[in-house]
Amino acid sequence: MTAPTLAGKRVLVTAGPTFEDIDPVRYLANRSSGKMGFAIAEAAATAAAEVVLIAGPSQCQLQNPAIRRVDVRSALQMLDAVMSHIQGIDVFIACAAVADYRPATLVDEKIKKSGPRMQLELLRNPDILANVAALPQAPFTVGFAAETGTVEAHAMHKLKQKRIHMIAANCVADGQGFDRSDNRLLLLFADGRRHNLGLQSKTALARELITVIATELKSAATSAASKPGRPSTVNA
Ligand code: PMT
Repeated sequence: MTAPTLAGKRVLVTAGPTFEDIDPVRYLANRSSGKMGFAIAEAAATAAAEVVLIAGPSQCQLQNPAIRRVDVRSALQMLDAVMSHIQGIDVFIACAAVADYRPATLVDEKIKKSGPRMQLELLRNPDILANVAALPQAPFTVGFAAETGTVEAHAMHKLKQKRIHMIAANCVADGQGFDRSDNRLLLLFADGRRHNLGLQSKTALARELITVIATELKSAATSAASKPGRPSTVNA
């Protein structure tokens, strides 16, 4: 049997870290390289979807010229870019490691050292994934959960809290997950189903993830079409 495709579907992917500037020379960041999110964008395009990739600062390069890449730096810029591309999107995959907090003030000049301690006030960033999931015409929303322990329970909590369809949980303890060419994912669904994708290259993993998403879309479309009062074909 051939894998279901995403032909005719529009997919929006976020990838990489966000950088939260403190002053002109310093920023807060995390270890995301962008490899997982870029591989997902490539896999979605290979599955015939029209793909937009919103990327935080990353050295990764796209192979498929059909993918539209939008580069951003901060969480607020990523939110703006996502919201300005979300219309008409069928699947939103939030793989980016978005900073949860940003400095409360961006200082124009390099901060000079003074006493032995300094304090940095941080403000909570908006949750991009939760904002997309709350849209009236929300697409099929897939989140990621990067955890260092109690992976499944934390991921399930995020799935429910953000009200998304599916979450891909990965363990990032002991050098796993971030900035490597391989990974493993535990997929959890809102209806309680779970599915393990074992250790493999991020390229192969992304293909498996896209196959699972395409299968979900296909079965959702089939069950919607078979509901009473909802004809699968509309006569003129
Ligand atoms: O980029 P690589 O080096 O290849 O590494 C891949 C990865 C480990 C970064 C990736 O597999 C991964 O786990 N990405 C999500 C990392 C993360 O930020 O997880 P989280 O548990 O903090 O966030 C939960 C979800 O909410 C994520 O889908 C995240 O994109 C989203 N989020 C979080 C905060 C925020 N302000 N807005 C968001 O949309």
